[in-house]
Amino acid sequence: MRKKVGIIGGGHVGECTAMYLAEKNIADIVLVDIIEDMPKGKGLDLLQAGPLRGYDCMVVGSNDFADLKGCDIVVQTAGLPRKPGMTREDLITKNADIIKNCAEKIKQYAPNAMILMVANPLDIMTYHAYKVTGFKANKVFGQAGILDSTRFRAFVAMELGISMNDVQALVLGGHGDTMVPLPRYTTVSGIPITELISKDRIQAISNRTRDGGGEIVKLLKTGSAYYAPAAATVEMVDAVISDRKRVVPISARLTGQYGINDLYIGVPAVLGSDGVEKIIELDLGKEELDSLRKSADTYKDMLKVLGY
Ligand code: 2OP
Repeated sequence: MRKKVGIIGGGHVGECTAMYLAEKNIADIVLVDIIEDMPKGKGLDLLQAGPLRGYDCMVVGSNDFADLKGCDIVVQTAGLPRKPGMTREDLITKNADIIKNCAEKIKQYAPNAMILMVANPLDIMTYHAYKVTGFKANKVFGQAGILDSTRFRAFVAMELGISMNDVQALVLGGHGDTMVPLPRYTTVSGIPITELISKDRIQAISNRTRDGGGEIVKLLKTGSAYYAPAAATVEMVDAVISDRKRVVPISARLTGQYGINDLYIGVPAVLGSDGVEKIIELDLGKEELDSLRKSADTYKDMLKVLGY
């Protein structure tokens, strides 16, 4: 039977996710949004691009959450984006109600689906969806580590004037101002960047990575990034749908790893058809571990705003 992916939210991130995913041709897609008819128009438009772009998966748009029935995974993009001057965390109370409503609908219509959270503040909203649905933790996870790492990869490639394809990078922690880029685990064809780039420049690149989403919000003025977030989301959907056992940084629920308990935060994990199949615990240095735990503390405090 063909796999089915639901995408909630027909804004820029949702529509780009649908487009990149259609081009992979690995699953049928349903794009759900409450704005009357809009997702139906986008779904039809994407479907009609199929013969030219070489895909033949079914793409439909809908205003009815019941159409999530049968989904293997649902990507939750609905939520307000930030505007210039806002942090992702400023969105907590605004997006919590939207996430609760959508999570309840997923539970009602697609109780066997996994949930891939994309809305911000990412790690908090992933925890919220986990609690609202009561789904197993391995079935609920959040995007962002791949997004932050891809930004790091792009900046390293720009710095060295080399192909982005040869750069691997790792960014852990929450998807916010406390994220933890790890230069020690960032390489160019296996060569640690610490051997290729000066300390000062690595620091500057790490800072730019941390502010990567904000840099784009400032430039767009009316919303946040969507091409790279959608591309990162599709990497994750593909890992699950195609059971790729990818080793990627994602927001996963920790149960003691890195000394952190009952919290969603960015860590490396194996992602496959059973969702988060394994969390990888790296032997971090003191400074790296302190930064990760500091990031975790910030998110623990934020969860209190939602009564957790
Ligand atoms: C970003 O970092 C929207 O949080 C997303 O661009």
